[in-house]
Amino acid sequence: MNAKTINSNNNEYYFEIPKESKVSDKMYLQAINAHKDLWHDFYNLAGLPTVKVLVAGNDWEMDSWWGRLYNAHPFTAGIAKLEAHSYYDWHIDTDRGVRLNMLLNNWDTSHSMFNPFMKRGESAYNVQLASLKDGERKIVELKYKPQRYYLFNTQIAHTIYNFADTARYSLTLDFDEDLSKLTYEQLLEELIREQWWNE
Ligand SMILES: [Fe+2]
Repeated sequence: MNAKTINSNNNEYYFEIPKESKVSDKMYLQAINAHKDLWHDFYNLAGLPTVKVLVAGNDWEMDSWWGRLYNAHPFTAGIAKLEAHSYYDWHIDTDRGVRLNMLLNNWDTSHSMFNPFMKRGESAYNVQLASLKDGERKIVELKYKPQRYYLFNTQIAHTIYNFADTARYSLTLDFDEDLSKLTYEQLLEELIREQWWNE
C-alpha cells in the first residue's frame, strides 16, 4: 500500500483517545467568560487575526490523566478561538510535530480537514490533482466528537472552517518539545503503549 493511500482508520492523521473528558463543559465556560484582553496570538503564530489563544490558568480543572502525559511530555494548555464565519487556512505547522486537541463547541458547524498531498507553502490551487491516482484525491475530515481528545498530526497540511454564527473553541496542548524532538508517530506509539488515560 502506498504511504499516501488513505488509511481506513485515519490514524496517520489523527487518533481518538478512548476516554471521555470530564472537563470539556468547564473549558467551554472558561472560554466564553474570559475577558477579551486575555486572548493572544496563537502561540508562536502572530498575525492571524481570526485565531487567538487563551492560555489555561492554574485554577482550571484538567482531566486527571493530563498529569501523566505532562510528566512524559510537558506542555502549555490553551483554548484556541476561531472567529465566527472564518477559517484557518491550509498550512503545515512550522515548529510542532503534534498536538492534542478537543473541540469544545460547533461540532456540526465547523470542519477540520487534512490533505496529505499538499506540501508546505502550497495553496489548494497548487495541488496537482490531475496527477494523483484514483483514491488519492480525498481530503480527510477529523469529525470531532464532543468530550473527546484527538492526537493531531500537524505535519500533514490541515485547515479549519467555521461556518457557525459563533466563535469555535478548541482546547489544544502545545508541547514544549518541538518538531525535532517529538513527532506525531512517536507520541502516538507512546500513548497507545502507556494508555495514560486509564486510571
Ligand atoms: Fe496547525
